[in-house]
Amino acid sequence: SDLLRFLCLFSFSKFFYLVRASAWRFKVNTLASQDTELSITPRFCGFSATIEGLNLSASLSSQSIQQIQNYWLDYPVLVITKQNISDLDQVKFAKNFGNLEIHPSVAHRSTKTPEIYRVSNVDENNQIMEAKSTAWQYLELTWLWHTDSSFREIPSLGSILHGIEIPPTGGDTLFADMTKAFDALPKPEQERISTLNVFHSHDYIVSQSKALSSRENKGQYESLPRVKHPLVRRHPVTKKQSLFLSPHTMESIVELKEQEGRVLLDDLIHHATQHQFVYRHKWKVDDVLMWDNRCTRHAVLPYDSINHRRVMHRTTVIGDSVPKA
Ligand code: SIN
Repeated sequence: SDLLRFLCLFSFSKFFYLVRASAWRFKVNTLASQDTELSITPRFCGFSATIEGLNLSASLSSQSIQQIQNYWLDYPVLVITKQNISDLDQVKFAKNFGNLEIHPSVAHRSTKTPEIYRVSNVDENNQIMEAKSTAWQYLELTWLWHTDSSFREIPSLGSILHGIEIPPTGGDTLFADMTKAFDALPKPEQERISTLNVFHSHDYIVSQSKALSSRENKGQYESLPRVKHPLVRRHPVTKKQSLFLSPHTMESIVELKEQEGRVLLDDLIHHATQHQFVYRHKWKVDDVLMWDNRCTRHAVLPYDSINHRRVMHRTTVIGDSVPKA
């Protein structure tokens, strides 16, 4: 019985030791994922940068979130590489920056996680969409320059995009620095356009596709009234002015005649697309990009969408205020 007592005591203390050791290991892991030092490496002209030291599937400490927010103000396009995250991880991470939008296009929302906008040529049955399908023709319009949710009264603050499947060529995303584009205009031009406003609408997006606008079934979208935004906006935090150009929703300039307004918009779009303002992101699987919609616009470079898959999931943070001149 002494031997039995010894064995019981031994197994109990071993069990106790194992429980303590794994609890300690868990604590170390949790701390490590939350308190890792973050660092930033600039990529393009004070406009985009890579953050290192993040694991987006772990909970982040409030200091890390604050640090990301600070970096985001310094670099409107942030790149975080090697993030093999789930949609739920992405939603959780994005919610650190505000509430999330549900995209107006019903066909492109994820049915399991509606905060995910599927910017993809692959449907939820894992098949490449037909080139003639309504869903693809709407999505193809992301190849045009735009700012996310410029059709809303309060446009989006920022978007977070996870690259899940990347085509071998094409499909890069271009980002334009709208603050630099504004700063580069002559002063009198800056003053003149700062008094103008633009009508934006979601319906205008659909009208940009000949194929889509000529068919009866144009897709199912939340109905959104036309809105008016200043042509030059001031960032609510940095207070810097930038051009607010989202060509795929911009119907006309409120204060100018149709033709005069169109010419001015086209000139400004051309000006703001010059290479010195544009960062081109060549995607790698599990890149996560976050961009500030209050001072950037973007477009996707065409790719072979019939033969190659491009699967990207976007979360879109609701804006903090109406854009102000
Ligand atoms: C978007 O337009 O929001 C998505 C950009 C992309 O697919 O690269």
